[in-house]
Amino acid sequence: MDFNLSEEHQMIVQAARDFAQTELKPGVIERDEKQYFPTEFVKKMGELGFMGMMVDPIYGGAGLDAVSYVLALEELAKIDASAAVIMSANNSLVCFGLEKYGTEAQKRKYLFPLASGQQLGAFALSEPEAGSDATSQHTTAIDMGDHYLLNGTKNWITNGGTASIYIVFAQTDVAKGYHGINALIIEKGMEGFSIGPKENKLGIRSSDTHSLMFTDVKVPKENRLGEDGFGFRLAMETLDGGRIGIAAQALGIAAGAYELARNYSKERKSFGKPICEHQAIAFKLADMETQIEAARLLVYKSAWLKDQKMPYGKSSAIAKLYASEVAMQTTIEAVQVHGGYGYVKEYHVERLMRDAKITQIYEGTSEIQKIVISRDLLKS
Ligand code: CAA
Ligand code: FAD
Repeated sequence: MDFNLSEEHQMIVQAARDFAQTELKPGVIERDEKQYFPTEFVKKMGELGFMGMMVDPIYGGAGLDAVSYVLALEELAKIDASAAVIMSANNSLVCFGLEKYGTEAQKRKYLFPLASGQQLGAFALSEPEAGSDATSQHTTAIDMGDHYLLNGTKNWITNGGTASIYIVFAQTDVAKGYHGINALIIEKGMEGFSIGPKENKLGIRSSDTHSLMFTDVKVPKENRLGEDGFGFRLAMETLDGGRIGIAAQALGIAAGAYELARNYSKERKSFGKPICEHQAIAFKLADMETQIEAARLLVYKSAWLKDQKMPYGKSSAIAKLYASEVAMQTTIEAVQVHGGYGYVKEYHVERLMRDAKITQIYEGTSEIQKIVISRDLLKS
């Protein structure tokens, strides 16, 4: 067992840290406040190879492993959790399925621009009436011979307005239940496809979240991803990996808040000494450090399992469940360590606290992670 990062991994950490500190940090408060999408930075993330980190270079990716991916995400999320989720959705939710199940033509046409950072992708599973209960898809894709006719609404779609390529899940054969669900590749601009207004969110405000509406959209058969009826399984397999990304995002949020709290506690004085010398504050820092270290081991282990091609579904659910709870707990305490200063925007911790909350909700709520974990452990 080797807990050291390789030289290559250390270089990735450094590159991501430099980018986050020098490029993302200066405007992060304004982007959050005004809900500005970080367009120019997403372009730079593409140039750095962050938008298709695990994709084979022949399809425009960086050809790196999942450990590299979580290391980069963690560094970005310490500074800007919105940039981290934009990256995570493109990598784990869109590039993954296209690379694993796409035809050669689909990979050339859709994966290449996404993995190389020229275009952005979105993953559309959730609906107004189907979030946790993802099998009850109301969106329909009726088989019309040479094409599918797509109708329905998707909710809460990350990169919803900024993406060019969408993986959309829809029910083709109701009688087959979830075995009748298909995954379709949809292009922005297809006739009958419209995008709702940007959601005004609590956190990750500079990432864009939209609903998507489909009215009699004609989707060519060659745009189906995977075999007929394979859509739900593809969604579940995708989310197994996606949850590693969100766990890394949560870890980064927690670690970012902790670093701010630790530094602040050494500078701020009360009753004649730095507040870190009050045991109540020192113990908060000790708890944060302990929980973050445990979360980090879980996140890295899930990524490592994926790299080893070993089963990682339960591990990614555990990592996501734990890291998101740690992100929430740590950010609340980081605000507390900052006192009144923590409650205003300049000190960053209030934003991290708002950002942390979503990690307990998307890509499966904490309650859903417990379902995934308990089913797996009872099965074995
Ligand atoms: N890999 C492969 N197949 C899987 C699987 C996995 N991890 N998990 C389930 N399946 C298969 C099952 O084997 C079953 O198929 P078979 O009958 O052929 O064996 C089928 O899927 C249905 O499984 P279940 O009976 O377990 O289905 P369920 O209705 O009980 O629900 C669930 C399972 C785990 C709760 C699932 O609905 C779920 O994950 N819900 C949460 C949805 C979610 O995470 N959404 C995230 C949207 S994306 C997002 O949020 C992105 C973002 O923010 C950036
Ligand atoms: P519900 O499923 O209605 O759940 C409500 C509550 O009930 C939760 O606490 C839940 O845990 C609990 N609950 C539900 N069922 C059970 C059960 N069986 N046992 C115990 N508790 C249960 N979706 C996408 O497809 N693509 C995206 O890119 C995407 N991005 C998102 C970005 C944001 C900012 C947000 C807010 C959401 C995003 N989502 C996306 C949707 C997200 O995945 C769902 O919101 C999430 O899965 C929960 O679904 P829901 O909101 O319908 O809540």
